[in-house]
Amino acid sequence: MRSRYCGEVDESLVDQTVTLCGWVQRRRDHGGVIFIDLRDREGPVQVVFDPDTVEAFATAEQVRNEFVLRITGRVRLRPEGTDNQDLRTGKIEVLGKELEILNSAETPPFQLDDTDVHEDIRLRYRYVDLRRPEMLARFKLRHQVNQVLRNFLDKQGFMEIETPMLTKATPEGARDYLVPSRTHPGEFFALPQSPQLFKQLLMMSGMDRYYQIVRCFRDEDLRADRQPEFTQLDLEMSFVDEQTLRDLMENMMRNLFKTIMDVDLPESFQTMSHAEAMRRFGSDKPDLRNPLELTDVGDLMAGVEFKVFSGPANAEDGRVAALRVPAGCKLTRKQIDAYTKYVSIYGAKGLAYIKVNAVEKGREGLQSPILKFLPDDVVNAIVERTGVKNGDLIFFGADKTHIVNEALGALRLKVGEDMELVEAGWKILWVVDFPMFEWDPKEKRWFAMHHPFTAPNTDDIASLKADPGKALSRGYDMVLNGSEIGGGSIRIHQPEMQSAVFEMLGIAEEEAEEKFGFLLNALKYGCPPHGGVAFGLDRLVMLMTGASSIRDVIAFPKTQTASCLLTSAPSDAGSGQLRELGIRLRQKPQDQQAQDPQAQETQS
Ligand code: AMO
Ligand code: AMP
Repeated sequence: MRSRYCGEVDESLVDQTVTLCGWVQRRRDHGGVIFIDLRDREGPVQVVFDPDTVEAFATAEQVRNEFVLRITGRVRLRPEGTDNQDLRTGKIEVLGKELEILNSAETPPFQLDDTDVHEDIRLRYRYVDLRRPEMLARFKLRHQVNQVLRNFLDKQGFMEIETPMLTKATPEGARDYLVPSRTHPGEFFALPQSPQLFKQLLMMSGMDRYYQIVRCFRDEDLRADRQPEFTQLDLEMSFVDEQTLRDLMENMMRNLFKTIMDVDLPESFQTMSHAEAMRRFGSDKPDLRNPLELTDVGDLMAGVEFKVFSGPANAEDGRVAALRVPAGCKLTRKQIDAYTKYVSIYGAKGLAYIKVNAVEKGREGLQSPILKFLPDDVVNAIVERTGVKNGDLIFFGADKTHIVNEALGALRLKVGEDMELVEAGWKILWVVDFPMFEWDPKEKRWFAMHHPFTAPNTDDIASLKADPGKALSRGYDMVLNGSEIGGGSIRIHQPEMQSAVFEMLGIAEEEAEEKFGFLLNALKYGCPPHGGVAFGLDRLVMLMTGASSIRDVIAFPKTQTASCLLTSAPSDAGSGQLRELGIRLRQKPQDQQAQDPQAQETQS
């Protein structure tokens, strides 16, 4: 139907005849001549119709935006001074001889060049939204990322193996999406939260090196970087330790960034312990482009009168930390109030601060509502430890450790952004030495910080049981510009250790047998030491394309409430279908009946 893509016609084709197909981006009538910007996947080209070509001209008069056309014409240089340097086709135009309308189009729900369209509209008419050049560019890049990763892993001897979608629950910390079974009434499959157990079984099968670009399903609270179905680059290797695996993954990322973006990631990625990351940045995925850091001051506050500080300073699970903001004196009362409100989202009860006007004047040179509560030696020690200079400001957080970390960790990011302190470029690191378990005070039990198959960094079951809170795991996360792009671990490969970990997680023997009996069994039949990792491909591509949400790099994403505005999924199942599945629905509560879930909006 066509001789080439619209966006590829350039001056090398001058005087040649081309046939092009595409969408009308814009039509302009200019005193007797009609200009049509015809667009396809590769970009737009300008087509000119003059009244001499009577038939084509008459048809051109009828076309509207987003009509689908096929044109034949001669390529010629644009008249002097009408070049468009930004376009590959900017030096030429096509003098149209023939024009065929392949399809008309209704007025699109939004202009393709409108940058301020509500996301709900974009998602409802996603096929139109995806025509926009910036969207096309993201999907081209995503495609290239897949190719580069596949090539790399293929060269390294990894085999691409598919694992089931209809399966048993794999615990990764979210709720499962369940699929009812017709042939086993009352029973359900779970969609995989990850292929974790299958890839481990593949190692036990001797596959040695496995990978897969695979969809995962997690019913969890959604955010800008989380979708209910998302894609992992998932891999697993046998007979490796963490160093070998991490080195290989660093190579893979260096190769990816070099090939796709001509970016040189460091020769060796920085490694930081989980404890250090929490202490310095209040986060297990620190954005190292941001220079701000937290400083512990709990030891200084233990004896002060100010209970807000001395309380947490003396509590076992408390923390008092300072955040130095260079040139923060210029923050107004209103801005500080806004930050105080911001940290309250994370549970902080306040946000004390000290403004440093003239550090050489000691107490006199400082300004703060809490200064009166702090003795001289404490004030001096704070100044010294935080390293403040004149014009700086210090924020304080005092509370349970996790609240201080979350509040000051988030404040650090916000202030860094507001004050334009965030460096450009790429900061990548490994976070390691994660705690094996996390205590949930509500449920009063230990949870696996990664997943229950992650090996502890000891082989001694007794010492693990003696102090679970102190145990570290052999897990690692890869963090890029403050985003967790990947995570993995060396796995437990001995049945005794696996059973012990289940037991510590409060999974009774019977339950372990019922849920993971197949794994425990497999561990008994010759399991090699093994480990692996999974990368969040959507997140990675989001960062590489500079998109602000993973929805912008997923062709047909779900909204914040996990629905698809395009197809209106999820939707009611017919009563016949439900009967076949042996399912009877519970009555929806009144208030839910009134609510149409699809009417809810996408948010950040
Ligand atoms: P984990 O749960 O850390 O590990 O997931 C790996 C990576 O997947 C991405 N990710 C997500 N991306 C988008 N939306 C989501 N809802 C979402 N959840 C996770 C993150 C994350 O780093 N089986 C283990 C891996 C292993 O141990 O080998 C696992 O799934 O970028
Ligand atoms: P108050 O004594 O409650 O008026 O608080 C004095 C100052 O301490 C105010 O600036 C509060 O914002 C701040 N503040 C109160 N609670 C905390 C807290 N948990 N962490 C940090 N600052 C706090």
